[in-house]
Amino acid sequence: MKIALGADHAGYADKDRIVQMLRDAGHEVLDYGTHDATPVDYPQYGYAVGEAVASGQAERGIVVCGSSLGIAMAANKVPGVRCAPVTEPLSAELARRHNDANVLALSERLSGWEMLERCVNVFLKTGFDGGRHAHRIEQLFEFGDDQRSRTLKALETGAVTDAQTPKDLL
Ligand code: RB5
Repeated sequence: MKIALGADHAGYADKDRIVQMLRDAGHEVLDYGTHDATPVDYPQYGYAVGEAVASGQAERGIVVCGSSLGIAMAANKVPGVRCAPVTEPLSAELARRHNDANVLALSERLSGWEMLERCVNVFLKTGFDGGRHAHRIEQLFEFGDDQRSRTLKALETGAVTDAQTPKDLL
């Protein structure tokens, strides 16, 4: 599999370790840096990995920062990216099965190496369940005028009342 990676100064050490692990396993890696502890701003690394995945240059992406959060927020700004910040493998599995996550965000400060290694392996080997989950994912990418007027209506009435999953998908 072709996998894009990126990290800031608070995540580069584990990112480099993941790069090595993936190369050893036979994957092709696009490593956008950073490569040392010189402080950098994480958004650009999240954007680079997100764009590589959204444009099809890479099949999946992995980003690492101190907490996993900022770099995940950045990656998710790129249209077509579904980036999941996770700190343990069950979340990595569900991010694939239910959300078809195409980018995984990891935390160097909150997770030990063994946990990160398991998250990566689960993320790469787990498929998407499809069905009702596909129907829900489609809605993540259609926040246009229609979705916005539905949302404003919910704010006016004080409740979301029009989000039942179609019965044939259950
Ligand atoms: C860098 O100190 C840190 O803020 C960054 O790696 C990340 O945790 C942000 O969300």
